[in-house]
Amino acid sequence: MKIKSTYNKNADRFSAIIQKFEETYGTPPTFIASAPGRVNLIGEHTDYNDGYVFPVAIDKYLNIAVRKRPDRRVVMHALDVNESWDFSLDVLTAVPPQAPVWSRYLIGAASLLQASGRQIAGIDAVITGDVPIGAGLSSSAVLSVAATLAFLTAGAEAEVPISENDKTELAALCQRVEHEFAGVKCGIMDQTISLLGQENCGLFLDCRSLEYEQVPLNLTDHAIAICNTKVKRELAASEYNKRRAECERGVEILRRQLPGITSLRDITLADFKKHEEELPALTQKRCRYVIEENTRVLEAVSVLKARGQQIDESLIAFGSLMNASHHGLRDDYQVSCMELDLLTDIARDITGVVGSRMTGAGFGGCTVSIVRNDALETFQTRVTTEYHEKTGVEPEIYLCHVSNGAQVF
Ligand code: GLA
Repeated sequence: MKIKSTYNKNADRFSAIIQKFEETYGTPPTFIASAPGRVNLIGEHTDYNDGYVFPVAIDKYLNIAVRKRPDRRVVMHALDVNESWDFSLDVLTAVPPQAPVWSRYLIGAASLLQASGRQIAGIDAVITGDVPIGAGLSSSAVLSVAATLAFLTAGAEAEVPISENDKTELAALCQRVEHEFAGVKCGIMDQTISLLGQENCGLFLDCRSLEYEQVPLNLTDHAIAICNTKVKRELAASEYNKRRAECERGVEILRRQLPGITSLRDITLADFKKHEEELPALTQKRCRYVIEENTRVLEAVSVLKARGQQIDESLIAFGSLMNASHHGLRDDYQVSCMELDLLTDIARDITGVVGSRMTGAGFGGCTVSIVRNDALETFQTRVTTEYHEKTGVEPEIYLCHVSNGAQVF
């Protein structure tokens, strides 16, 4: 049984990366930029529809050890894939086709930071992390977020803390990296939570206004368990862009009846029901899911905030909304897969699991469940055995601690 406990391991968190930096460049790094992965508790595929999301930052990080260079070169070694790449800050017009996939996020971050007029500098860098790659926990967003902090810190004359406002702007810049350098038309959620995450809080984010609220989770008797199907998300990028286009098409058609709407966020469930027949069947399903999911996020956040003494009951209500979210993703939005459905079915059958759903873009990757502490052992055993029995694959389970956002150490 493979169970990965990821409770803070601060003590030796940076020793390996520092050692590797010294081996590679002959001197110690001057700082480490660190960005956490995320798990989204509810509000999936709503961010690019101007809607609501409720993710948390987790204690899995992408770290970049850095030393400023006197010239304008960026020299990088990615430890986990054992690949190196270097580029000049003066030649950033196009990414060469042979550049490794991970390097595009750093080239993109450098390029957009410079274009925005920010001061950055050349660096030597070693990159490593424990956010599982391609598992739907934001392994790509953390690259641009950590790179952004690395370049800004290297380029700063003096140490200036990054303000909350600045973090929101940087999240938008990192989102553009994904759009322009990786070809995925993602929303703003992953980059924002990686920058703004707060220990023991969920980030209730309005993806239109970018206003947010840190909502305390107080999960004292419960844990957040992430289960990795280990299914590689091959369809994710192309199907993701397709879903986004389907939603936009829905808005275009509905706008004929509902003038003034600019996204699915503007449509109430009641209005949607009045006009849904105007839409082609598939578009109808996609739009219905997004509109319902937005209402679920609002409800989920309000039950958490109204908790008072009734901690268990409100978590149960929160969990039911997570389950409903999964069903919408499976049946209407159609971004789940057999393995994600299986993991959530096994989880929900266990007493003490309050809710379970796929998380992230889908087509593989991970599920997230909220599990009562006294049910954790049964959860781990049953999920591992039953998933293995049906798929021949051992899932990985991460018991996560809700962490702070990106920092420079
Ligand atoms: C990916 C994207 C996010 C979001 C989720 C689905 O993680 O990067 O912007 O759209 O999928 O909720």
